[in-house]
Amino acid sequence: MNTEAVTVITIDGPSSSGKGTVARLLAGRLGWRYLDSGALYRTVAVAALAEGVSLDAEDRLADIAKALDIQFRDSDGDQHVFLEDRCIDAEIRAETTGDAASQVARHAAVREALLGRQRQFAESPGLVADGRDMGTVVFPHARHKFYLTASADERAMRRHKQLNEKGIGVSLPALAKDIAERDLRDSSRATAPLRPADDAVTIDSTELSAVEVVAQILSHLADAGIVAVGKKT
Ligand code: DC
Repeated sequence: MNTEAVTVITIDGPSSSGKGTVARLLAGRLGWRYLDSGALYRTVAVAALAEGVSLDAEDRLADIAKALDIQFRDSDGDQHVFLEDRCIDAEIRAETTGDAASQVARHAAVREALLGRQRQFAESPGLVADGRDMGTVVFPHARHKFYLTASADERAMRRHKQLNEKGIGVSLPALAKDIAERDLRDSSRATAPLRPADDAVTIDSTELSAVEVVAQILSHLADAGIVAVGKKT
């Protein structure tokens, strides 16, 4: 599939900026495919930890990424991740996995191994892709690029609330520290660092709900003629 022929919307941003929720909602509203690229890095991390592979072993991690038997399955209005036919939703969302994924994602060979897999998600009529380098590296020709931010305090509070709702107790300062470390690692790495594409629209969601962010994006898309003005898709 020629990814340039498919309408791609990219949503990049730091950890817990809400980009996953926004991208999922938007894909649902448009009836388009959704790529959660972070889930790929998280799944490589889960597989590596299960096999006892060091998060510094670039070549072995790249081999895992190349051979990854991962499937995204939609059910109950949600996307579920399967590794070798086993649902790993809970494992990939753990804080420790997020941290391990950020370490795995530093390696150029791992990123290269996942590139083609990510581009295969581009299918007609369109794709909404979220991550760190969707607009800069994976889909540089995407028609519409967004960069979602929120203050570090707000992101830590959102993540804290999410974890509390799952019954996972984590201290807010410890969470804020982890998020700051991941931000630094993701934005300072040599390959495909987190940064807005030059042609991305930045949306600060500190004071906005996910639904309000989706409304802003839809309004940009309406201006561009991708969705009809006033039409609820
Ligand atoms: O979006 P997320 O929190 O699920 O991503 C987990 C980690 O994976 C993140 O800390 C950095 C890495 N990642 C990446 O480097 N590039 C992407 N496109 C998506 C995620």
